[in-house]
Amino acid sequence: MEVIEDITLMKNCCRKKKLEKKKIGFVATMGALHEGHLSLIERARESSDFVVVSIFVNPTQFGPEEDFKSYPRNLTMDLKLCQEQAVDVVFVPSEEKMYPEGFPPRVEVKDRLTEILEGASRPNHFGGVVTVVAKLFNIILPDVSYFGEKDYQQALVIKKMVKDLHMDVEIVLSPTVREKDGLACSSRNKYLTLEERKAAKVLFKSLLAAKAAIEEGEKESYRIIPSMERLIKEEKLAKIDYIAIVDPENLEKVEKIKDKVLIALAVKIGKTRLIDNMLI
Ligand code: PAF
Repeated sequence: MEVIEDITLMKNCCRKKKLEKKKIGFVATMGALHEGHLSLIERARESSDFVVVSIFVNPTQFGPEEDFKSYPRNLTMDLKLCQEQAVDVVFVPSEEKMYPEGFPPRVEVKDRLTEILEGASRPNHFGGVVTVVAKLFNIILPDVSYFGEKDYQQALVIKKMVKDLHMDVEIVLSPTVREKDGLACSSRNKYLTLEERKAAKVLFKSLLAAKAAIEEGEKESYRIIPSMERLIKEEKLAKIDYIAIVDPENLEKVEKIKDKVLIALAVKIGKTRLIDNMLI
């Protein structure tokens, strides 16, 4: 496994693979790798000839009051995990190389998709995400790139960017990987104290309760959302940011459930903001 820090080296390496007609599979990460990332790498491994993983904690996708500084970083462990997964190259660029002029005008997906849910709670977040993903795609030229369903909205926004900018990369969504008790794997789970970790189960529990209600014939979002809220509020460490029942295609609110829906939520457990969702 090679570890590349330099952008030109990374570009040359990938362009060489392209000339050799190798299929490049790419997984973009901010490190602190967990089972969710590993499942994406595994899928990349299965379906491509050359697997690149990037590790870069992207400053532009964090708000000023957010956790950029404290975001978990453990490069030694991440490299070990990548090695075990038979990754070909880990790309670890520096902030100075990725943003040589500070934080200049960025790629934006100007669309309602970036203004609702996460976009409403975290202004500029998706601007930062698509900026860095566009840069990474330009450097690596992947044929296929894998993203987790936990960040469902992020994946839709990236798909939109790829379509709008005619990029030649297939975006594949992979199912959310969960801990034994249902908590979605996330690098931010590392922030949770023991007590908070227990409280965090309530996200999945509320999604399961909503799923059960829908499967029993409940169709009204105005009844499902308040019952999820009640359940979450029983947990005193939890503070709801949003709960929404939306159309999985465009993330617009669904009042009456007739077809497939996505239930998405963001909840703070102590100081840690967690997101989760379920397709039903
Ligand atoms: O999902 C993430 O970890 C990040 O948003 C990504 C896609 C690596 C961009 O920094």
